Amino acid sequence: MATVRGAVRGTQPVLTGAQVRLRPWTPDDADAVFAACQDAEIQRWTTVPSPYSYDDAVGYVTTFAPQAWQQGDAVFAIVDTATGSPVGSIGAHGVRGGTAEIGYWVAAAARGRGLARDALRTLARWCLREVGVARLELMVDPTNLGSRRVAEVAGFTAEGTLRRRLVVQGRRIDVVMYSLLPDDPAATAL
Ligand SMILES: CC(C)(COP(=O)(O)OP(=O)(O)OC[C@H]1O[C@@H](n2cnc3c(N)ncnc32)[C@H](O)[C@@H]1OP(=O)(O)O)[C@@H](O)C(=O)NCCC(=O)NCCS
Repeated sequence: MATVRGAVRGTQPVLTGAQVRLRPWTPDDADAVFAACQDAEIQRWTTVPSPYSYDDAVGYVTTFAPQAWQQGDAVFAIVDTATGSPVGSIGAHGVRGGTAEIGYWVAAAARGRGLARDALRTLARWCLREVGVARLELMVDPTNLGSRRVAEVAGFTAEGTLRRRLVVQGRRIDVVMYSLLPDDPAATAL
């Protein structure tokens, strides 16, 4: 597999945005993940288990996220720098191969303050500038208007609709494919 500038090796970094810090998940975060993932919107639009158990949260922070880093992906807790609390998750999958697919959620109580946009911009900047990823992708249900808006305000371009591309919560759905390339004007402004 092609490698990109020694990406996702060594210790997972902490990334600093304007409003958020992206850091590795820790076992102490299980309560926050469990509480956030009870939300119907997260269970509707993402691939988290539904219903979401406490064991799911423990597995996420102690096994899934650390293993993701070992396997060439990068999953971060989104920490609101105003409070120091973890309020969401954002991950880039397939980083080592040069094309990374991003996914995210923000806890209901923390929405509407630009945290998802800042987390996405921060992760995209690291992927494109530090790691050398050639293409970032975001696949969004066409009816998930909130996530589509997040992608657009972060500078991603909608390329078109891929039919029945993903299985989410047991349903095979169409997705809008968004991308961001290192030489896009929006990427140079990150
Ligand atoms: C989608 C989600 C991540 C947005 O998080 P957020 O922190 O509230 O988003 P932001 O505050 O950064 O909003 C960024 C932009 O999107 C807009 N936006 C956010 N949620 C919106 C919604 N439900 N409907 C319309 N616009 C929305 C904001 O108004 C803002 O636009 P603006 O800059 O023009 O004002 C959050 O609602 C969520 O976790 N949803 C459930 C999980 C999910 O859908 N994940 C993505 C799967 S592809």
